[in-house]
Amino acid sequence: MAGRIDRHPILGKRKAKEEVEIIFNGKKIKAEKGEMIAAALQAKGIRIHRYTIKNKEPRGVFCGIGQCTDCAMEVNGQPNVRTCVTPVEAGMVINTQYGLNRDGDNID
Ligand code: FES
Repeated sequence: MAGRIDRHPILGKRKAKEEVEIIFNGKKIKAEKGEMIAAALQAKGIRIHRYTIKNKEPRGVFCGIGQCTDCAMEVNGQPNVRTCVTPVEAGMVINTQYGLNRDGDNID
C-alpha cells in the first residue's frame, strides 16, 4: 500500500510540508523535506531496498531504528546507508543495493 496517512485519529490532519526531489533507480520522485529516505520510499510504495548476496532475497524496512541493516541502500554512491535513519536531501541519488557492497562487505 502506497501513500501517506492524511488524517490520523489522534494526530489529526497531516500538515503539508516542503517537498524536495530525489532520484530512485534513475527515476525522479518527490519526498518531504526532512523525512527519512525509507519513509519517502514507503510513501511511493517502494518496499525493496536491497537484495542479499547468497539467495538474492529482497530486504526492506524491518526495525526502522537503524539496527538491522535490512534497509541499506546505495546513496550518492555510498553503499550500506541505513535509509530508515538517513534524512532525504534535494537531489539525492538512491539505488537498490545488490549483495556485496563496494567495500566487499557482505551484509546478508
Ligand atoms: S530498518 Fe533496520 S536498520 Fe533500517
